[in-house]
Amino acid sequence: MKRSDDPEFTRRGVLIGSTAVSLALSAPLEAQSQPVSAPPSRMQVHLLVNDQPQSLELDTRTTLLDALREHLNLTGTKKGCDHGQCGACTVIVNGRRINSCLSLAVMHEGDKVTTIEGLGTPDNLHPMQAAFIRHDGYQCGYCTSGQICSAVATLGEIRDGAPSHVTEDLDRVSLSDAELRERMSGNICRCGAYSNIIDAIQDVAGGAA
Ligand code: FES
Ligand code: FES
Repeated sequence: MKRSDDPEFTRRGVLIGSTAVSLALSAPLEAQSQPVSAPPSRMQVHLLVNDQPQSLELDTRTTLLDALREHLNLTGTKKGCDHGQCGACTVIVNGRRINSCLSLAVMHEGDKVTTIEGLGTPDNLHPMQAAFIRHDGYQCGYCTSGQICSAVATLGEIRDGAPSHVTEDLDRVSLSDAELRERMSGNICRCGAYSNIIDAIQDVAGGAA
C-alpha cells in the first residue's frame, strides 16, 4: 500500500498538522491577552540649551517648543501655526534646523539645542542678527527668530555642500538668491520682508563664505 493510502498515516498527519495550526493561531491571541504596560506619562530629559545643561521633568507629550518657551522661559522662539507650516519655531539641534513644534522634547535626550537667545545678545549680536537689522529684514518681528536660526543653519548646509531641490551643480552648491529662497521657503513672513531677508543672508555669506 502506498503511504498516502495508509489511513493511519493520513490521520496522524492531519492531527499533527492541525495541532501545529492551532498552536500558531493561539500564539498571537495569548500575546494579545498579556496586559500591556502604559508608557510613562512623565519623563526626565536632559538638554544642552544655549550651552547650559538643563534637566526637565516633562509630560511625554510636551513639544520641544513648549519645553523651551513654557519650562525654560526662552520665549524668543515663537509659536505660529504649531503645525510645522510657518517656521516661526525654528531652532538648531545638533547643528541642524528643525521645527520645534513638531518634535517631542523627550526625543532630544542629550541634544544640543540653540535658540535665538543662544546666537547672540543685544550687546554682542550674531552676524546674522546684525545683518537683519542692517538690511531691515523684519517688520513685526514675529517670524524673525525662526528666520535667523534658519538662515544660520542654511549657510552651514551650503558650507557642507548639502544640495537643495534647485541646486544645479552638485559639486559646488552656489549662494544664488534662488538657492537661498528655496532653502528658506519653510520660513513664512506675513510682513513680506523676504527680499531684505535674502539681502541679509547674502551679506553674511559674503563675509563668511
Ligand atoms: Fe512650528 Fe509654525 S509654529 S512651524
Ligand atoms: Fe512680521 Fe515676518 S516680520 S511676520
